[in-house]
Amino acid sequence: MPTNTKPATFAVAILAAGKGTRLKSRHPKVLHRVGGKPLLEHVISAALKVAPARDIFAIIGHEAEQVQKAVNHTGINFVLQEEQRGTGHAIMTARPALVHYDFFLVLSGDVPLIRPGTIEQIRDFHLMSGAAMTILTAEPPDPTGYGRIVRAQKNGQATEVVSAIIEQKALAPGQQGWREINSGIYAFSSRPLFAHLDKLTTDNAHQEFYLTDMAAILTQAGEKVAAVLAADAPEVLGANTRAELAGLDALLRARKCHELMAGGVSIFRPDTCVIDAEVEIGPDTVIEPFVQLLGATTIGSDSVVSSYSVIRDCKIGNGVTVRPGCIMTEARVENDAILGPYSHLRPATEVAAGAHVGNFVELKKTRLGKGSKANHLSYLGDAVIGENVNVGAGTITCNYDGVHKHQTTIEDGAFIGSDSILVAPVRIGSGAYVAASSCITQDVPADALALGRAKQVNKEGWAKQKREQQRAARAAADPHK
Ligand code: UD1
Ligand code: CA
Repeated sequence: MPTNTKPATFAVAILAAGKGTRLKSRHPKVLHRVGGKPLLEHVISAALKVAPARDIFAIIGHEAEQVQKAVNHTGINFVLQEEQRGTGHAIMTARPALVHYDFFLVLSGDVPLIRPGTIEQIRDFHLMSGAAMTILTAEPPDPTGYGRIVRAQKNGQATEVVSAIIEQKALAPGQQGWREINSGIYAFSSRPLFAHLDKLTTDNAHQEFYLTDMAAILTQAGEKVAAVLAADAPEVLGANTRAELAGLDALLRARKCHELMAGGVSIFRPDTCVIDAEVEIGPDTVIEPFVQLLGATTIGSDSVVSSYSVIRDCKIGNGVTVRPGCIMTEARVENDAILGPYSHLRPATEVAAGAHVGNFVELKKTRLGKGSKANHLSYLGDAVIGENVNVGAGTITCNYDGVHKHQTTIEDGAFIGSDSILVAPVRIGSGAYVAASSCITQDVPADALALGRAKQVNKEGWAKQKREQQRAARAAADPHK
């Protein structure tokens, strides 16, 4: 007999149409963020490690447009469940898309910690066991709120066969303590599932079509329903409430910190740091307590990021010192630069190797060249600053005329005296000096001294004379004193 070696085809359906009433939010549940990413994006990322985008279907409904827009870049497909009548109804809606596959996996848009390895585990188990439905289960310390698994008994022992799933609200008092929960992650063989899916009813607490009822329906139809227990219970925790979201966020952050520490990064008090999933950090870099590293930030090795710094989408080199309280967004900092305390680097800023940016200095769309310093109280916007330039305390580039932005250029080795105003467009030539408190409106040639301030006048005896006049006036007003 010829054997059919064609591998079974499978799809991944992600349930993401629900409103998330328990979050009390105006925004769809699956777009709430944990670990810096929407819940749904975590699930899609895991699914993409197991199946190509063309075989992944997100079932969306509540605020569907907004949800699709947020994750469209992943390239997966979307199925619209216009009215959300339950998890079983979601699969009924996706039937035309799923029916062509031999089997499919169901993931939940609000169970974000699921790992690709676990999805593969349930897929492979399903194929081996020949079950019509395989359920990923777990035994978390607190099973409250989850559907519970009822396993078939044989000689007084629980077997791998499941006879039903009972939702929390339908549990009898004696069943409340049952520990094994339904993770909401399943594998279904298309043929038996779709042959019996129409048997679902809305005869339950929420008057919804529960996908969980398929366990009992398939069992009664003589099909096999199996369960696989997840080794790691936190991985299948769902997020129905704000408190659960915070719990998952903390788990993801802790996971990230442990990965980084395993790679040679020192993180003191990791429980106080917020580090997004995509962040990369080289070995021997030190992260102090209460630091946020967000988005696509990368940091080289041997750098230090001190407390209360918030760094988003930045590229930071090796040996960089970030002192406390720096706010940095979409900036690039090269090796051995020193920042802070309290520096503000805004988008399109580049701080070259060995440069210093000090306290209360704001840089926007500015390159500060190699070894240059802007150490105190400055605003430098739309500026190109060369190497070994000294920008004195309180220097300000006037880059905006109310309509357009203009550029300031400061060439290598120039010295800008404190409290100078550079009205752009303007160029300070290499090696030039700008006297303190100048208002510079014209280009300064290389090696020149620019004095852009009123000449000082000293009036001899003026202050003394004024004091005497005041004393005389007081005496005239009150002669008895
Ligand atoms: C569900 C399971 C429960 C399980 C738990 C695990 C049911 C009836 N119960 O409960 O046994 O322990 O997940 O986390 O399935 N959704 C749709 N369309 C709908 C309704 C829901 O796409 O019409 C989506 C939601 O957006 C969500 C997922 O399905 O991502 C699960 O729905 P939810 O209401 O959160 O179910 P739970 O009460 O958590
Ligand atoms: Ca849920």
